[in-house]
Amino acid sequence: MAKDKIKSIAVLTGGGDCPGLNAVIRAVVKTAITKYDLCVWGIEDGYLGLIDGRMRALSYDEVSNILTVGGTILGTSNTADPFRFPVKTGSRMRFRDLSTNCIRLLRQNGIDALVCIGGDGTMASAAKFAKKGLMVMGVPKTIDNDLYGTDVTFGFNTAVTTATEALDKVHTTASSHHRVMIVEVMGRYSGWIALHSGVASGADVILIPEMAYKIEKVCEFVEERSRRGKKFSIIVVAEGAKEKGGEAVIRKRINHSPDPIRLGGIANKLAGQINELTGLECRAVTLGHIQRGGTPTPYDRALATGFGYMAVDLLMKGEKNRLVVHKDGQYGSIPLWKVAGKIKKVPKNHPLIMAALAVRTCFGV
Ligand code: F6P
Repeated sequence: MAKDKIKSIAVLTGGGDCPGLNAVIRAVVKTAITKYDLCVWGIEDGYLGLIDGRMRALSYDEVSNILTVGGTILGTSNTADPFRFPVKTGSRMRFRDLSTNCIRLLRQNGIDALVCIGGDGTMASAAKFAKKGLMVMGVPKTIDNDLYGTDVTFGFNTAVTTATEALDKVHTTASSHHRVMIVEVMGRYSGWIALHSGVASGADVILIPEMAYKIEKVCEFVEERSRRGKKFSIIVVAEGAKEKGGEAVIRKRINHSPDPIRLGGIANKLAGQINELTGLECRAVTLGHIQRGGTPTPYDRALATGFGYMAVDLLMKGEKNRLVVHKDGQYGSIPLWKVAGKIKKVPKNHPLIMAALAVRTCFGV
């Protein structure tokens, strides 16, 4: 379809929620209405709403005053895959491909293009929709910052800020009680949140999935601190971190979810091990979904607004099936197929790892 034929677009938010989603929705809707005089539809609860046909027209006024609000006014879901949707027949669960119905539904409502705001799961489905002929544009969301192709995703800065504030608070109580405090942060299979919040808070130990740790090294480090008169230690551990030769700790399995594994529990495991091996008193704190909630930071509000604007602008300039990205300090876009199935991990020679090592932070290796 030629760019001048786009009259109507839809927007959805998929995957786990994240601070800044509303800022993107606002930018998409306002840009579409004011700059291009488009109709904009909001799909409820991500791909789940697309499957169910739940959508509503979004007016300019409806997206006013949401820039600073956490969550998503559209709702989201991180368990619905339109290409493999679980349907119960009798007592058996079968997976069905409902993508053709989804495209038909969009066309019936006169929707020419779909803006998908999400992480790798959302983009994997968006790329499949693109292959089937739907015009799509992706916007990179996730607190984990693990989306391939972009230096940064919106939501990450807010999550790091929340985690850093928590680590700062834990610092004082660790110091008062002469304890080892272990704080578990999110991030799935990447250590971006742990690395950034750990460096920002001056954590003594940072454990990330990209660097499998040895428990003996961690224990030696906190014991040595103790001997030097430092009576407490702060450990920040990414939920996906694992011991050398070991596996990440799984909190839950959600079989019908496109990404069925939910990580969690490593902080408790470490607290038990360190206490047993060193005799030091340990406490574990799991920050959990607090990292996904609340008001986005100014950085995330601005980034999200830029992403939302870019998504509409690119579509109207004739681009399609791309992911809006922020790379080397510039907004840009890359083909969606390049992103599918990939995760952006922390490189072992990342400058922040080098800086942390230089200030004697332990990575357990
Ligand atoms: O991808 C965002 C994220 O918060 C991860 O950091 C975390 O592992 C996962 O989602 C938690 O998912 P749920 O909301 O299903 O518990």
